[in-house]
Order: sequence, then C-alpha cells, then structure tokens
Amino acid sequence: MVKVRLENLTKRFGKVVAISKVNLTIRDGEFIVLLGPSGCGKTTTLRCIAGLEIPDEGKVFFGDQDVTLLPPKDRNVSMVFQSYAVWPHMSVFDNIAFPLKIKNVPESEVKKRVEWAAELLKIKELLNRYPHQLSGGQRQRVAVARAIVIEPAVLLMDEPLSNLDALLRVMMRSELKKLQRKIKVTTIYVTHDQVEAMTMADRIAVMNQGKIMQVGTSDEIYNKPSNLFVAGFIGSPRMNFFDATIAEKEDKILIEAQDFTIALEEKYRSILAEYLNKTVTVGIRPEHMYIEKHMIPTDIKPWKIKGKIDFVEPLGSDTILHVNTGSMLILVKVPGSYRAKIGEEVEVVLDLNQLHIFDKKSEKALF
Ligand SMILES: Nc1ncnc2c1ncn2[C@@H]1O[C@H](COP(=O)(O)OP(=O)(O)OP(=O)(O)O)[C@@H](O)[C@H]1O
Ligand SMILES: [Mg+2]
Repeated sequence: MVKVRLENLTKRFGKVVAISKVNLTIRDGEFIVLLGPSGCGKTTTLRCIAGLEIPDEGKVFFGDQDVTLLPPKDRNVSMVFQSYAVWPHMSVFDNIAFPLKIKNVPESEVKKRVEWAAELLKIKELLNRYPHQLSGGQRQRVAVARAIVIEPAVLLMDEPLSNLDALLRVMMRSELKKLQRKIKVTTIYVTHDQVEAMTMADRIAVMNQGKIMQVGTSDEIYNKPSNLFVAGFIGSPRMNFFDATIAEKEDKILIEAQDFTIALEEKYRSILAEYLNKTVTVGIRPEHMYIEKHMIPTDIKPWKIKGKIDFVEPLGSDTILHVNTGSMLILVKVPGSYRAKIGEEVEVVLDLNQLHIFDKKSEKALF
C-alpha cells in the first residue's frame, strides 16, 4: 500500500503525444479508475506507473520515492491485462505461484500464499487444472490471483473484464471491488466503460486526448461535470446540448435558444454577467426532463417547452423519446410505462436545477 503521484507526465511515440502533462495523486489504498475513449492514453499512463514505459517528461512517485526510472521488478507492482495472459503450459497453482518463485520465496510460504490468493478469488478447487480446462471468467480470476499473490504495493488493471460476457462482467466488478476493499491495495483500473467506472471507483479520472479532463467521485463527475467533454461522455443517453444566447429582458436573465426561451433564477445573474448577449452551450440530461404530470418530482424548478414526439425507443424499464422542438431534437427519458405516440404534441418539463451551461470557446462549465 502506497500513495502514487504522477507529476506532469508526458509520453510521445514519434509524433504522437500519447499523454500530456498528466497530474494525478492516488491515495493510499484508493481504487481509482482511468476512464476515457479509445486512444486517450489510459494504457500509456498505466505502463508508466508499472515501469514498462519511461516518460519523456515528468515523474512518478510511490510515496516519497521517485520511481520514474526504476525497473518494473523493483517497484512492487502487479498488472492484470484484458487478455488474462496466463501461461497455458502451467497449472493454475504454478501460474499463481510464479511471481513468488521469481522472488525466491520458500516453498512452504509459496503454498500458503497461493492458497490465500485462490481462496480470495474462489478458485481453490481449480488449482490442479490447466488454463485450457477453465472458462474465460475462471482464467481471469487466475490472472487476478497471480497479481495479488505478491501483495503488491500497487495493483494495475487494464480493462480486465472486457473479454467476459455481460452477466459475468457485472458479477466480477462487484467481486473485484470487494476484494480490493479487503486487501486495501492502491488500485489503478483502466476502462472505457462508464458503468464499470461509476460502480467501482472511489474516484474517476476522465481522460481525453492524452489529458486528464476531470477527477472526482461518480457523483461529482455525473452531477458537476467541469467541462463539455465530461458532460457528454458520462451518461447514457448522452446529455442534450444546444446553443443559446444569454439575454436580459424586463430585469430577467434569459436563455434564448432557437425554439424556446428559459428564464433563469436570480442567483445566476452574477455568474452570467460577462456572457450577456453572447452564445453559450446549454446542456440538460434526458433524465432531468419530464412529460407525464404525475411523474414530475415536487422538488424541481419546472420550466415547460413544447414539442412533438418524433421517435420512440422503448428500452423496457425506460423509454427514450426524441422530441422535436421545431429546429432541434431533444432526448427525454420517461418511464417504460409511458405510452408514447409518434406525432403527439407534448409539453416537456425541464428541471432548471439541472441545467449546465458551458463557455463556447473554453468548453468549461460556468457553474
Ligand atoms: N508503442 C506505441 N507506438 C506508437 N504509438 C503508440 C504506442 N502505444 C500507444 N500509442 C499511441 O498513443 C495513444 C494512446 O494510446 P493508449 O494505448 O495509451 O490508449 P488507450 O486509452 O489505452 O486506448 P484503448 O482504450 O484503445 O486501449 C494512441 O494514439 C496510440 O496509438
Ligand atoms: Mg488501452
């Protein structure tokens, strides 16, 4: 267990800047998730922490020790990959024992430690089998057991569940999280799956194009995205975005979109003062709008806009309505019980407490 600190980490491959000035502190025993689209630099960040890549600039600290140039074997880290990478010619026992044998751990201690790891991963009865006699899920458990058997200071996992089927993935994600809680190892977990990130992480670092866009708990990332990228990346279906002008009429602060106008509460006046008569990007999530009267929560700040149902996507528990407000389509999430008809005129109630407004140029959230 150790605190990990990344300081201004930059890594280039030829002309490609894989990661750029990454700063991140991972607390002792924390489970942090690096989340972002393909190619954003997640694996490169992890490999710099493991010692498999040397950054071009910046430093990696384990506690107070600068490990930037330390070889992987001297870092006390373990890594689990998407592809399991268990050795086919070795039994499960020998696979898990392997990292201990390299460290010349005495035979009796090896047996004890392998059994401890196998017990935690619930694969004790598989110790004599070979990888080809295991399911994908069991093989992944072996890979995790092999990673924790040395009791690493830092556990790195790179999309470890993405080769498993959907049901197993859901099961394994809670098991891995419980395991991490039990052994309290500082864990850095890479995924591009936002549900995996939200459910497992103590904190999430959202990455895009080699940079960290925001670090926060699932709640912070979802409810207070600090920029347009995070707002659009987290949440499914994604947040609705539209352009609007900030105006002031009859002493009211207004958002004037192409098809409708929204009057804002007084508290936004000072925040939006410098945006008067300028265009901003406004965002609202599909789940923060309502159609049926009896479904509208009492604690929202309602604002009605008119539209026509253009398309209906039933998902079982929920239904996604595409509502045409004149010149744009807004996605609204309603309960699956709502009987929507294409062409029907509807009043959509927005919750003004859930509006997000972004600077058009910097893409930063204004509040
Ligand atoms: N060894 C390499 N040589 C050249 N370019 C590389 C190398 N490794 C990574 N890159 C590039 O660096 C960028 C970041 O790659 P990285 O593998 O870190 O992304 P990632 O976020 O893990 O993506 P994915 O979700 O697809 O695994 C990409 O543009 C990738 O093509
Ligand atoms: Mg990767």
